[in-house]
Amino acid sequence: MAMNRSHTAAPALNDPVPLLAKSRSHKRALGQFFTPPALADFIALFFVRPQRDWRVIDAGAGVGALTLALVQRIVHQRPKPASFHVTACEIDPAAIESLRETLSTCADLCRGHNISFTAEVQTEDFISRTTAMLEQGLFAPALKTFNAAIVNPPYAKLRTGSPAHRRLQAVGIDVTNLYSGFLALLSRLLEADGEMVAIVPRSFCNGPYFRAFRRDFISRMALSRLHVFASRTAAFASESVLQENIILRAERASIPPDTVEISTSHGDLTDSVRTHLLPWTEVVQPDDGQCFIRLPASDQEHASLVRLAGMGQTIASLGLGVSTGKVVDFRARAHLRAEASSTDHPLFYPCHFAAGALRWPKPGGKKPNGLDVPASRRDLLVPLGVYVVVRRFSSKEEKKRIVASLIDPARLPAATSWLGIENHLNYYHREGRSLPLLLAKGLCAYLNWSVVDSYFRHFNGHTQVNATDLRSLPYPSASVLARIGAAVGAELPDQAELDLLVGGFCLPK
Ligand SMILES: C[S@@+](CC[C@H](N)C(=O)[O-])C[C@H]1O[C@@H](n2cnc3c(N)ncnc32)[C@H](O)[C@@H]1O
Repeated sequence: MAMNRSHTAAPALNDPVPLLAKSRSHKRALGQFFTPPALADFIALFFVRPQRDWRVIDAGAGVGALTLALVQRIVHQRPKPASFHVTACEIDPAAIESLRETLSTCADLCRGHNISFTAEVQTEDFISRTTAMLEQGLFAPALKTFNAAIVNPPYAKLRTGSPAHRRLQAVGIDVTNLYSGFLALLSRLLEADGEMVAIVPRSFCNGPYFRAFRRDFISRMALSRLHVFASRTAAFASESVLQENIILRAERASIPPDTVEISTSHGDLTDSVRTHLLPWTEVVQPDDGQCFIRLPASDQEHASLVRLAGMGQTIASLGLGVSTGKVVDFRARAHLRAEASSTDHPLFYPCHFAAGALRWPKPGGKKPNGLDVPASRRDLLVPLGVYVVVRRFSSKEEKKRIVASLIDPARLPAATSWLGIENHLNYYHREGRSLPLLLAKGLCAYLNWSVVDSYFRHFNGHTQVNATDLRSLPYPSASVLARIGAAVGAELPDQAELDLLVGGFCLPK
């Protein structure tokens, strides 16, 4: 292979970005974040097929940073390419002049290396234009196809029912974000074996909203490399983008690859890129109806994947359910009570738990302690019982993403018969009712096990823990959970002790 793939150092990702004078709201509406030159060079390294005649699409081209980086790379390709054509699509009139200047630099570069260069700038909305062409069918004269796509697509939510959303649906694309809409369209514009290299938020890898997109994308594209930035903010530091980003390489093919290259870097100049190969079936598990794309970024995360794969049970096979707390406090304001009287129902927020156990009430705290609802609003409550709660949000600084605690009625006033669980908590139950105490204690300890936390990180790049995520975890059998439950005390031990204890019951297969 003449295109050199080996690289040991990741770039300085937050070099200055060419900024156009415009307001933040304008940028946000266009989902506009420009790629710093060093990052663009790094992205261009992901192409592995040396084309003789490059026919490239850069959708949402901005000022052309990605195309320029690719041209700077292919002029050194051996055997030398004969031609390079780029179709650059950019809707923002303020970017077009700079884009044309960049393309003219690309033309000069190619000329200097005897490579024929042509470019087309499309200023229309990429979604409207491409969906209109796709609606006419693949053989529509206007439909141009490509052998390479390089893209940093716009990041913005796509409102259900908005014109772009409707247009995408009309061509069978069901997405909730502009960036996934762009990738889905590009996958349709690539020819067989055509390569796509994209920098996108990691959010599409899991989460129910991206399920249809994941299925569609992996049915058309063979994902061959995924690069994870260990630092959530590194990639677009200068643009204050807080999304965790990944770079993906995929080839147009309906058969999945045997293996996927997973690479990681932190994001500063001196950081090296660590790479390992994983079987495709570990990255997208064949029996996973959610089609999660699992990205173990470290050896530790990979080890947790292997360790938990042997657990054997699912939440459904255990007869359990997990739901999000029913009390959305700003909607239930009239019923909230700062201090719970003897007739109020206990109300639990994340602050009511510590060391895996209930710390209720918290008199004088910031959050209410009670809920006073009429019988007609029983839908807000759960019957008194044993439940395991998991916080939905943690801050970036916190070490653990999964923080589980036990609701044990023994810690509540004797007259209690109903409980309120606030919406920042998920809770495990059995058909909406109490769990057996020992199983619940064991489940709480299991969820707090470092290996589970590490497993969770490989498919979830953000700090939010959704009920869907908890449904997709592997679990040990009910008897193992009950045995763990019998071994833990009223409060959870410290992390090292808990890891030893749970690890002793959940041995590697
Ligand atoms: C995240 S920026 C990336 C720009 C450039 N590719 C880069 O990496 O620096 C996405 C670009 O897509 C453009 N864009 C947004 N919506 C678009 C649309 N519907 N059609 C074409 N371009 C669009 C934005 O104006 C913005 O310049």
